Amino acid sequence: MQWQCPTICICFPCPLQGKSKLSTHATFLLVCRTSFLSDFTLNAIYLLPTTQQARRRSYIHRHCWLVSRNPGSLANIIIMGSSSAAVVLLLLAAVFRARPVEALAANWGTRARHPLPGDITVRLLKDNGFDKAKLFEADPAALQALGHSGIQVMLGLPNELLASVAGNVAAAEQWVQQNVSNYVSKYGVDIRYVAVGNEPFLKSYKGMFEAATLPAVQNVQAALVKAGLARQVRITVPLNADVYESLDGRPSSGDFRPDITTLMTNLVRFLLDSGGVLAINIYPFLSLDADANFPRDYAYFPAPGAPPSQASVQDGNVLYTNVFDANYDTLIAALEKHGLGNITVVVGEIGWPTDGDANANVASAQRFNQGLFDRIVAGKGTPRRPQMPDVYVFALLDEDNKSVDPGNFERHWGVFNYDGSPKYPLSLASGRAIVPAKGVKYLSKQWCVLRSDASPTDPAVVGAIGYACQFADCTSLSPGSSCGSLDVRGNISYAFNQFFQSANQQKGSCAFNNLAVITTTDPSQGTCRFRIEIDPGRRDRTHGNSDSAAARAAAAWGAVVLLALLAIVAV
Ligand SMILES: *[C@@H]1O[C@H](CO)[C@@H](O)[C@H](O)[C@H]1NC(C)=O
Ligand SMILES: *[C@@H]1O[C@H](CO)[C@@H](O)[C@H](O)[C@H]1NC(C)=O
Ligand SMILES: *[C@@H]1O[C@H](CO)[C@@H](O)[C@H](O)[C@H]1NC(C)=O
Repeated sequence: MQWQCPTICICFPCPLQGKSKLSTHATFLLVCRTSFLSDFTLNAIYLLPTTQQARRRSYIHRHCWLVSRNPGSLANIIIMGSSSAAVVLLLLAAVFRARPVEALAANWGTRARHPLPGDITVRLLKDNGFDKAKLFEADPAALQALGHSGIQVMLGLPNELLASVAGNVAAAEQWVQQNVSNYVSKYGVDIRYVAVGNEPFLKSYKGMFEAATLPAVQNVQAALVKAGLARQVRITVPLNADVYESLDGRPSSGDFRPDITTLMTNLVRFLLDSGGVLAINIYPFLSLDADANFPRDYAYFPAPGAPPSQASVQDGNVLYTNVFDANYDTLIAALEKHGLGNITVVVGEIGWPTDGDANANVASAQRFNQGLFDRIVAGKGTPRRPQMPDVYVFALLDEDNKSVDPGNFERHWGVFNYDGSPKYPLSLASGRAIVPAKGVKYLSKQWCVLRSDASPTDPAVVGAIGYACQFADCTSLSPGSSCGSLDVRGNISYAFNQFFQSANQQKGSCAFNNLAVITTTDPSQGTCRFRIEIDPGRRDRTHGNSDSAAARAAAAWGAVVLLALLAIVAV
């Protein structure tokens, strides 16, 4: 039997257990999807001795997971499972089909002043069809919440650690031990990739991380081998699209940036040889924002049936109708030019912000992301790579504590608001709409505003706003943003409220030299929302992690039982 490394596997208990002759064993079904967007098929029957230990969910999960990742052990399963009941079910494997899922992937950044709790975020991911998440660092709360969730994780090793990990195998081993092995074995986190560095070759870093990146990749790989994890955890390096270029604008002319050509070929060769992938971050928003003459419609995916953008690029007999396809294929052409065309290239980041810039708004973000989601759901890739790769949407949530060096839009990339509510409607497979986070607890329904009898020209106002906006996020006040057209009283109030919420509405955080007062009337107006912060102390403790997996398993099991009955009738 030919066994292909599966993209995703689900393991769930067989309801026949106890009734079969194999009552000393618990029976589990391993249902896998072997390629991106294919249906789930029953891949194996797995038997575990019904000892005390085997009843534990973590034990079962780990074993099923090892089986799904380790081709060699399949032989064992077949031998173990060759009872008549199991054989019948194995025969059914050929016809068994379960409901496909969207297979979406998202970047889960945690630089928020009041992060959405991990369990609520994991449920948000699952409820919306995300089965892969990328973390920029080993955030303990996020990783613990991802344990046993069925979500595959790409875990980032930040640029700041590259030099130490590159200089010293022991440092790499320590990082892997503390941040990978620990979460895999203790919490059951399904870590699939370590992303070494984040856009380390970005031009604006002026070469700062270039020397350390490849040695760091090699040391992390060696550490994964040593930890016995190299089969299930692969390496990637997320790169910015400025590592390649096309001098004449045609994707087929793509090549690496001249100053890093050798580095790129060595890096990709190593990734290929060690079973890793390349991750590329592509930002049509940034292309549009940086160039006033950028053809607007070329930044978006064309609407079905719409005429191609005037700016479409003819490349041989291929017409590139949008910048994503052209950009991705420029990289593929560069890789092919250097004999590296076999590397898998995932999209590590792509998205559109909603605030903090004239080009960042809900309508544009919705247009871009709906086009993107439609392509992901359809599995439609680019002219050079017809199958859509894994695409990690940037981002799941807004992060109000990120650096605004790239621009005020940097804190507003979320498809969801800070509290997990959708910013705009998006439809997933078969028109299903995205749904909000469940179980979020908020602080009291009160806001801090400028007193009606205080003057906006009071000499203390400037200092007060400066202070508020130093410790809270005021980027929505910037020109062209959601609160950019507030009058002067409105924007003072906005700044006061942001500070008050950031400070958990603590006593004294709405003072501002007696310029401010607490109100229970929502001061929001037009597009400008005055927020109520998430309550960091009082939150829903229910763990929703397994709800949808269980529902899916139940549905899938229904199909198996039905097929079994049909098979019996047919015989
Ligand atoms: C684990 O990751 C965190 C976050 O990136 C980092 O601060 C910590 O130093 C890492 N542990 C080791 C041993 O490197
Ligand atoms: C790409 O992979 C295929 C099959 O795995 C192999 O036959 C081919 O030689 C590889 N090409 C290169 C350029 O490595
Ligand atoms: C506040 O509003 C005034 C008047 O509309 C405007 O001139 C000023 O730039 C705004 N301040 C901020 C921080 O946005």
